[in-house]
Amino acid sequence: MTERATVLVAHTSSVAQTQALAEALAPVVGPGDLLLLAGDLGAGKTAFAQGLGAGLGVTEPITSPTFTLVQEYEGRLRVHHLDVYRIDHLDEALELGLAELLDDGGVALIEWGDAILPVLPADYLEVRLTFGDGDDDRIIALRRVGASWGARRDALARAIAPWYLAGPGEPAPC
Ligand SMILES: Nc1ncnc2c1ncn2[C@@H]1O[C@H](COP(=O)(O)OP(=O)(O)OP(=O)(O)O)[C@@H](O)[C@H]1O
Ligand SMILES: [Mg+2]
Repeated sequence: MTERATVLVAHTSSVAQTQALAEALAPVVGPGDLLLLAGDLGAGKTAFAQGLGAGLGVTEPITSPTFTLVQEYEGRLRVHHLDVYRIDHLDEALELGLAELLDDGGVALIEWGDAILPVLPADYLEVRLTFGDGDDDRIIALRRVGASWGARRDALARAIAPWYLAGPGEPAPC
């Protein structure tokens, strides 16, 4: 499969838009799902987690879990919000017990999750945020990894349609 076939790309121009995009993805997310949030410092990983949490019915403010590694929020689904920026060794990542976390029917969002790929399950959605031209521009690439996400291309495309960034000469996704 080509890269283009597994990746949907969106563009936002404010933190509110990134949160709204993430919130719109909530209906596509189900129990046991893993979302890996990738991108440099300040790219908007926590903002994305806040939006998705809101979409999943979390009313408590979602903050950066940097010093605690894992925070849990109750919503329509339980949300496990992790930040593995400070993890130096994969052993520490294994100790997080990710498989068990996902077994409880919740959703896991892992900031800097691309740093611990070897200990991640085979199915996840990679959300990669990169800086765009203006201070508040972000490019958000959603890459589906594994069969469970592979089957959700159209649902994801519909959810992000307002922010979809078509490639050169490419039609809208749906
Ligand atoms: N389009 C945008 N999407 C997301 N955040 C934006 C956008 N435009 C500006 N921002 C700002 O960028 C910052 C993103 O911060 P956030 O904490 O979400 O980043 P992060 O990727 O989680 O960083 P860290 O690596 O430190 O955890 C916020 O200050 C937010 O207001
Ligand atoms: Mg963060």
